[in-house]
Amino acid sequence: MDGAPPAKAEQACAAAMRAAAGIQGIEPGICMRTHYCGRLTKTDSGTAVRLCGWVHRRRDHGGLIFIDLRDISGLVQIVFDPERSGDVHQTGHSLRPEDVVAVEGTVAPRSEETVNPDLPTGAVEVNVTGVEILNRSETPPFSIDEHIDVDEALRLKYRYIDLRREEMLGNLLLRHRVAGTVRRYLDGNDFVEVETPVLTKSTPEGARDFLVPARLQPHKFYALPQSPQLFKQLLMVSGMDRYYQFAHAFRDEDLRADRQPEHTQVDMEMSFMTEAEIMGLLEELMADLFARVLDTQLVRPFPRMTYEEAILQYGSDKPDMRFDLPIVDVSGTFAGTEFAVFARALENGGVIRALRAPGGAAFSRRQVDELTDFAIREGARGLAYLYLREGMQVTSPIAKFLAPDEISAVIESTGSVEGDLILFVADLPVVAAPVLGALRTRLARELKLAGEGWSFLWVTGFPMFKLDENSGQIVAEHHPFTLPTAETLGFLDDDPLKVRGSLYDLVLNGVEIASGGLRIHMPDLQRRILRILGHEDHQMEADFGFLLEALKYGAPPHGGLAFGLDRLVMLMAGLNTIRDVIAFPKTQSGGCPLTGAPAAVSPAQLKELRLRQG
Ligand code: AMO
Ligand code: AMP
Repeated sequence: MDGAPPAKAEQACAAAMRAAAGIQGIEPGICMRTHYCGRLTKTDSGTAVRLCGWVHRRRDHGGLIFIDLRDISGLVQIVFDPERSGDVHQTGHSLRPEDVVAVEGTVAPRSEETVNPDLPTGAVEVNVTGVEILNRSETPPFSIDEHIDVDEALRLKYRYIDLRREEMLGNLLLRHRVAGTVRRYLDGNDFVEVETPVLTKSTPEGARDFLVPARLQPHKFYALPQSPQLFKQLLMVSGMDRYYQFAHAFRDEDLRADRQPEHTQVDMEMSFMTEAEIMGLLEELMADLFARVLDTQLVRPFPRMTYEEAILQYGSDKPDMRFDLPIVDVSGTFAGTEFAVFARALENGGVIRALRAPGGAAFSRRQVDELTDFAIREGARGLAYLYLREGMQVTSPIAKFLAPDEISAVIESTGSVEGDLILFVADLPVVAAPVLGALRTRLARELKLAGEGWSFLWVTGFPMFKLDENSGQIVAEHHPFTLPTAETLGFLDDDPLKVRGSLYDLVLNGVEIASGGLRIHMPDLQRRILRILGHEDHQMEADFGFLLEALKYGAPPHGGLAFGLDRLVMLMAGLNTIRDVIAFPKTQSGGCPLTGAPAAVSPAQLKELRLRQG
C-alpha cells in the first residue's frame, strides 16, 4: 500500500510508546499506531507495537483468546493471555467481529507447530498488553472473513462492508495500481492531464444523455458528457499536443455486465500522429502496464483484423481470439441443394454459414435443442446441425436432404473431425453473422475452449456509417467526428455506406476495451458529414457551431482513443462484471442500493427548476 508510515517514523513511534508503556486503556501517545498488521514478520520479534484495526476472527479457548486483527495490509494474530493481565483479557473476551480496536503488545515468533503458512504474518503473533475499543460494531449483515455467496443487492446496500472483503479490497487496489501505472506512462510520454466539464452539452456517442436542468436558465439543460470527445478535440486546436484524462462518461442506456451508466475512460488525444503511431502508442502503454502490474510480457504488435473479416469469420466486431473457431461460409457448397430451408435462404439473398463445435457430438438432444432455442432468441429462424459420430457416421434430421458430396465438402471446409457437431444458420448475412458469433461465444464457454492468457486484437476499417434499423436514418458507426479513410472518401456523396472511418477498436479476450480514430480537422468536411447524418444547417450551428468555428482557426490533424478503465481492470482481475471493480456501482436498473439514488426530489426543488411532476 502506498502512503505507509516510513520506517523512521515507525521507530520513533515505537520508542515513544515504550516510554509511555500504557497497559489497560492505552496512554494517549504520539501516534495512533506504529505498524500495519499485515506487515509484521519474524524480524519484528521483540518489537513493541501498537496496531489498529478490525476484529476479523476470534477463537476463545477459555484461557487464551486468539484474534485475527485486520487492517488494509492484512491480518495478524493477536493473543490475549489472562496470565498477562486480567483486565486486558476481559476486554479481549468482549470483542466481537468488526469491532474496531487499538492494541499494544510485543511481536513474538510462533512456535514451529503453530506457524500458519497461509498467512504472510503467519510466523509471528502479538502478545497483547493493552487494548482500547475504538468503536463497537453491530453484527454485520454478512460475514467478511469467508468466500461467501451473498446476494449482490445486499452487498451493494452495505458496500462499505463488502469492500472490507479481501477480494474486493484487492480489486480496488489493483484498479489503483493500474491507474497509477497508466498515469506514469502517460506523464512520461509528454501527455498533459486536463479536466473537462461535467456540466456540458450533449456529445453524441450513440447513447441517451443524462440531462441536468439549469436553474439559472429555466427550460434549458446541461447534458452530462457521454465522453469528453469534443473538448479533447478543442484542446488539440489549442495546441495541447497530447492530452489525457481519467474521465467519467455518462450514458443512459440499458445496463449489462460490462456496462454502467457512468464509467471511467482513460481518454487520450494526440496531434500530428498517424493512425499507426497512435495504435503503437497504446500497445506500448498496455505492454508497460501488463509488465508492471501483472508481470506479463505482451507479444507485440497486436494482431489486426478488419471489421469485415471479424464479422464474416467470427460474427462479432470484438471476437475472442483465445480460441480459433472461425465461422465458415458454405453458401457455395449448397448452391444447388435439395434441402428446402437452405435453398430458400439462398434464393432470398441469404447465406449459409457453418460453425464447428469441437467434441459437440457428445451433446445430448436436449443440449442441441437448447442451442437451437438460443439461436432463435438471437434472431435465427432455426438451427440445422450434423453429428459426426464414431467412424464419421453422420446423423441429423436433415442428413437425408443433403447430398453426400455436400456433407463431405462441409466437413472439409469447417475442418471438422470425428466427435464434432456442425451447426448451420441459413439467413441474411446481417442475421447469420451475429447469431453464429453468439453461438461461437457460448460454445467456447460451454466447451471451455478459451485458454489462459491475453488475446489482444485490433479491429480496424469500420464503416463510417450504418443504417439505423428503426428510423432508416444513416447514423455514425462511432461518432460524427471521425475522419473517413482517404481511399473511401470518394463514396461520401453517392454511396456513404461504403465509406470507411479511420477507426480502430482494441479487443481483449472478446471485450472491447478501447475505441478511437482519427478526427476531421477541416470544417467543410465536418459539415458534409453532419449533413449526411441528417443535421439541418441551422441545427448543426446550434449543436456543433462551436466545433465548426474552432476548426476554422488552424486545427491540427489529430486523433485519439479512450479505453474503458473498468473493463480493463475487470479483465486483469479475472472477473466477469465491471461492478466488482467499481467502488460504488449501480444495479442493473441503474439504482444505488446504498444511497437510494435515483430519488424523488421535493416539489420546491422542482418548482425552482421550473419542472412539473409527470
Ligand atoms: P467509446 O464509446 O467506444 O468511445 O468508449 C470508449 C471505451 O469506453 C468503454 N465503455 C464503457 N465501459 C463501461 N460502461 C459503459 N457504458 C461503456 N461505454 C464505453 C469501452 C469503450 O471501448 N469518445 C470516444 C473515444 C474516442 O473516439 O477517442 C468514445 O467514447 O471500453
Ligand atoms: P424445418 O424444415 O423447418 O423443420 O427445419 C429443418 C431443420 O432446419 C430444423 O433443424 C430447423 O431448426 C433448421 N432450420 C430451419 N430454418 C433454418 C435456418 N434459417 N437456418 C438454419 N437452420 C434452419
